[in-house]
Amino acid sequence: KRKVTTHRLREMKERGEKISMLTAYDYSMASLIDEAGMDVILVGDSASNVMAGNITTLPMTLDQMIYHGTSVMKAVKRALVVVDMPFGSCSGNPEKSLDAAIRMMKETGADTLKIEGGEEVIQDIKKIINAGIPVMGHLGLMPQSINKYGTYTVRAKEEKEAEKLLRDALLLQEAGCYAIVLEKIPSSLAGELTQQLSIPTIGIGAGPDTDGQVLVMHDMLGINKGFSPKFLRRYADLHGVITQAVRNYISDVKSNDFPSEKESY
Ligand code: KIV
Ligand code: NA
Repeated sequence: KRKVTTHRLREMKERGEKISMLTAYDYSMASLIDEAGMDVILVGDSASNVMAGNITTLPMTLDQMIYHGTSVMKAVKRALVVVDMPFGSCSGNPEKSLDAAIRMMKETGADTLKIEGGEEVIQDIKKIINAGIPVMGHLGLMPQSINKYGTYTVRAKEEKEAEKLLRDALLLQEAGCYAIVLEKIPSSLAGELTQQLSIPTIGIGAGPDTDGQVLVMHDMLGINKGFSPKFLRRYADLHGVITQAVRNYISDVKSNDFPSEKESY
């Protein structure tokens, strides 16, 4: 089981082999996902929502991301691991961004980092890449900028925004990013971008024509019942499975069925 590298992702794009990517935030789930054969594991700042219970990703701190990154790195043997730089850690002050990126790399042992944004953060990204840290870009819907846009609806439907996205993607490629996440944009635009770029694109709500796909683990396993965007496919109903298991346990405790003699010393 050879470790997946950024170079391998590029080869996969050239070969037309799709890239699979899924989030993980803890040791146990990261082990499962890695052993199942995932290409890329993202320690997303979606941890803010699914692990910490926040409404947005903004409250996530560098220390919290380091905690999740460290836990995941202990588990993963094969997948390429990407850790999100949280809101405010890479936003227009390249010296400060590099410090944060170096801390993240040293303390977690992560393979690579992901940073939201294009032109606005290009100097930060260049500085980090020049220090030898691989960076994945993230364009389209950028949850860290939710207060700027005000909604989580599809991005770049209009010509002007689509043109900016294309420019940003080329800037990121030029700066040396090894891949770009495209979140919630029209399939046609994602497909066009994927053709124009030599680095892989990884889509979420961006249609079938990207070089890979990414989902949030809790969403695709059906742990959250409330979140049902059109782009989400649920591969399990863990909400149902876990609720039933917990109810059975409660009932067995109440009825004195658990523990049995065989389960006692
Ligand atoms: O934080 C996250 O889970 C992400 C993915 C949705 C791409 O950034
Ligand atoms: Na994220």
